[in-house]
Amino acid sequence: MTNRTLTIIKPDAFGAGKAGKIIAHLEQGGFKVVAARVMRLTTAQAGEFYAVHKGRPFYGELVEFMTSGDCMPMILEKANAVLALRDAIGATDPAEAAAGTVRKLYAESKGRNAIHASDSDENAARESRFFFSETDCIRG
Ligand code: CMP
Repeated sequence: MTNRTLTIIKPDAFGAGKAGKIIAHLEQGGFKVVAARVMRLTTAQAGEFYAVHKGRPFYGELVEFMTSGDCMPMILEKANAVLALRDAIGATDPAEAAAGTVRKLYAESKGRNAIHASDSDENAARESRFFFSETDCIRG
């Protein structure tokens, strides 16, 4: 288990001005931002990032949504970061997310669900490299 993971504040939350609140919530939960950027994903970038979901019925909708506005990828640091962040953001569908989680507080729906988090250490490393180079990150 490593102490870094990748998150994205998605276009619904970023566009609605919720990024500051979400970052504050995560910092309160013990996460440290070690890299951050604001960008608009191209269709090719979103398609590649979510390639694992290619063929799923929601893939087209997911790529369209992720390219619909600016988003904020970040690398976060905390002990056991991948599991800790998945706990902090809650279930994919905000209707099923636990009280006090980011998705319960800030997500609109299963598709427009405010935030992404890597689901394994391997994917955290791959997804971090997708957005950042080593020189973009605070040294551990
Ligand atoms: P995320 O954690 O970014 O990883 C994959 C995303 O696919 C997920 O969040 C949701 O936003 C999206 N997703 C998963 N299931 C559905 C669905 N049934 N309908 C729409 N989007 C979905």
